[in-house]
Amino acid sequence: MGNDAIRITDARTDAQYELPLFKGAVRAMELRKIKTGPDDFGMMTYDPAFLNTASCQSAITYIDGDRGILRYRGYPIEQLAQHCTFLEVAYLLLKGELPSAPELKEWVGAVTYHTMIHETTKKFLEGFRYDAHPVAMFVSTVAALATVYPDSRNVLDGDVRALQILRLIGKVPTIAAYCYRHSLGYPYVYPDNELAYTENFMNMLWRMMERRYQVNPVLARALDVLFILHADHEQNCSANVMRAVGSSQADPFLATAASAAALSGPLHGGANEEVLKMLDEIGSKQNIPAYIEKVKAGQFKLMGFGHRVYKNFDPRASIIKWTAEQVFEVVGRNPKLDIALELERIALEDEYFVKRKLYPNVDFYSGIIYQAMGFKPEMFTVLFAIPRTVGWLAQWQEMLTDPEQKIARPRQIYVGHEARDVVPMSKRTSGALLPSD
Ligand code: SDX
Repeated sequence: MGNDAIRITDARTDAQYELPLFKGAVRAMELRKIKTGPDDFGMMTYDPAFLNTASCQSAITYIDGDRGILRYRGYPIEQLAQHCTFLEVAYLLLKGELPSAPELKEWVGAVTYHTMIHETTKKFLEGFRYDAHPVAMFVSTVAALATVYPDSRNVLDGDVRALQILRLIGKVPTIAAYCYRHSLGYPYVYPDNELAYTENFMNMLWRMMERRYQVNPVLARALDVLFILHADHEQNCSANVMRAVGSSQADPFLATAASAAALSGPLHGGANEEVLKMLDEIGSKQNIPAYIEKVKAGQFKLMGFGHRVYKNFDPRASIIKWTAEQVFEVVGRNPKLDIALELERIALEDEYFVKRKLYPNVDFYSGIIYQAMGFKPEMFTVLFAIPRTVGWLAQWQEMLTDPEQKIARPRQIYVGHEARDVVPMSKRTSGALLPSD
């Protein structure tokens, strides 16, 4: 046996199996040869929440959770955040290489061309209640784009995919800004395509009656860096959704909306909003020890802490902390930062968090910056979804062009009733007692 295989002995039958390794992993289908008899379906793996299951091969993002490493197409996130713009990184994630100057100019022009949304989509947005949560508006409105571009369903056509990718990257800031303006009861501001991507987003968010929005370059750069940091993160929950929904060859607008819905959960991209609520609830540094005790008692989780992959620091959190200082020099220091820093200091010295390798993740500090910039916490996950749309599309494109991929359909271990006959209504005593919430 070479070193590219493993040998298994089935204690039930004493049969021996040699399973070839594929890039250090066992193909799950190889296990199906392990049977106890001719009628046996064969061995499966059981891995709820995919703690130890690779669902695909991917060349987009690399994470080393123990060493706190994050690379997009091989480039360290620290270098991309320092030297690139968000649209430059979007090009890298989608096309695999950093663009040359002419390529970037053409790419920015193509994305900018698609910043407007159809007037019917604007009217669709106007139908939401005044207090509708922006992330729910965002998810719904991105899905509604599928009604405007019926050609987008031809996902096996590369040119069709490329056009929808441009439309989504161009339009998500517009939709996000319109959701924000709607939640404040302000009129929408149309895109100003002479502005760069992030500056144009700020224009649509914050221009009031002035003729031209005056962008603060420090804030624009900070937002661009935050977009770079949030662009992709390999097979996270919402990327998995993009791949699963996309695997049925569904429309990319609907798949992106589904991914944004997954992102909105408090365990995923919704954590940034929960962090601000947590910091508000703590209120002062003096209250931190008592709050930590409640976390350790299992009453609730410390939002913005912990990660499925990072068991050391999240490299994005370090960059966000640095970016926060740049923003606070312009807009003033967010007092919540002092509570967050003290919370981090105390937690990182506490055995409960150290033993479980819980460190601040990308969501722990991002909300503090967003709030200092003037965003309401309800907008934070929408701010996460804008750049992550690029990552979802890169994963979607890679999945559709992977010859090994097909419609995602996991197996299960059935633990329900054996076959049984229907009892006539006249003889039934009582229905199943539904589990109480
Ligand atoms: C994002 O996957 C990605 O890449 C996501 C993301 C991306 O860019 O796409 O990085 C973005 O989603 C960041 C994570 C944002 N979520 C939060 O900050 C919510 C709080 N964090 C946790 O819910 C949790 O840490 C998760 C969801 C992030 C990870 O959960 P896991 O990997 O399933 O870990 P677990 O729940 O099995 O926890 C292991 C142990 C448990 O304790 P025991 O049962 O062993 O006693 O650690 C504890 C958990 O109770 N634990 C926490 C905790 N997170 C885990 N205890 C207190 N506070 C926490 N935050």
